[in-house]
Amino acid sequence: MATFSILVTPGDGIGPEVTAEALKVLSRVEARFGHQFRFEEEIIGGAGLDAYGVALRPETVEKARAAHAVLFGAVGGPKWDDPQATHRPEDAILGMRKQLGLFANLRPVKIYPQMLAQSTLKPEVLAGVDMVVLRELTGGLYFGEPKKRWTDDEGRQGVDTLRYSEKEVERICHVAFQLARQRRNKVTSVDKANVLRTGQLWREVATEVGRQYPDVTLEHLLVDAAAMNLIRNPASFDVMVTENMFGDILTDEAAMLAGSMGMMPSASLGERNADGTGIGLYEPIHGSAPDITGQKKANPLAMILSAAMLLRLSLGLEQEAAAVEAAVDQVIADGYRTPDIAGPGATTVDTVKMGDLVAERLA
Ligand code: IPM
Ligand code: MG
Repeated sequence: MATFSILVTPGDGIGPEVTAEALKVLSRVEARFGHQFRFEEEIIGGAGLDAYGVALRPETVEKARAAHAVLFGAVGGPKWDDPQATHRPEDAILGMRKQLGLFANLRPVKIYPQMLAQSTLKPEVLAGVDMVVLRELTGGLYFGEPKKRWTDDEGRQGVDTLRYSEKEVERICHVAFQLARQRRNKVTSVDKANVLRTGQLWREVATEVGRQYPDVTLEHLLVDAAAMNLIRNPASFDVMVTENMFGDILTDEAAMLAGSMGMMPSASLGERNADGTGIGLYEPIHGSAPDITGQKKANPLAMILSAAMLLRLSLGLEQEAAAVEAAVDQVIADGYRTPDIAGPGATTVDTVKMGDLVAERLA
């Protein structure tokens, strides 16, 4: 029996609610496939600020390092929303990414045919959409120094620094091309090479890396054109690779193709082992949704699908991951919907029931 350790950080708002459903599903995977998952839970985010005065304790990062993977809920909420505060709930996710070296963020966009009407886009625009956005996660504006606020003769000022090294761009581009080889052999590299020096570097390095993958088509797009094409012709994309901030913005846009943030999982990966597995952090791309917290309205499917990515990408359990994804497909096909994805006449279920339905289909 294989044993795996998973650090669980439910976080704030609906984080704990959707995490509970993913754990329910993972327990079912344990029973059905005969594995043993050792779950350890840590308090982070706003809850961490309340409990310990910091969003992410060094002990928690150490536990993450020792684990096979991290299952991360969501952080933040109105209680901790002071933009001036030195410690913020978001420190938890940014700290985990940076300290664990999770530089590659995979955000797949899958359209469920039964949910086409839930998108704000026309069904004919969405036909054939199947893409992954690969977002660089530990560089760029999020982490560049200097990063500060100050006041002088000209009044209040602020600076963030957009900086990338050749190595940082190179490693994420390799991930993009390798991923494209498992898919439809196309990479779209997104930059702002007409204005930014980092954009020029990005394009240069992407082109160089691309030469090592002659079987993969490389296309370059400026970020503004990419934003446009995402809603004009989304089916034209296979793997989109881009820097941290552009990726943050474009993945919220891409989520709307699928109709709801509640359907969008993500994986954040560091360097891989020889067998392709390695530490990763798995989280839904939605936030803590304070407006619906405690009402059992949250859609747990993004978190459950993130757990499926965990099984595949950190534990190397492909069959188990596919079984979870098939169970989600089945629940959608059977017509069950949480409020965020419910069209007219749909059978609406709450968070817990949705988790039960997925787990039942794994039995
Ligand atoms: C995301 C989120 C985070 C980000 C926030 C919570 C810091 O928006 O994962 O996309 O900006 O990366
Ligand atoms: Mg975001």
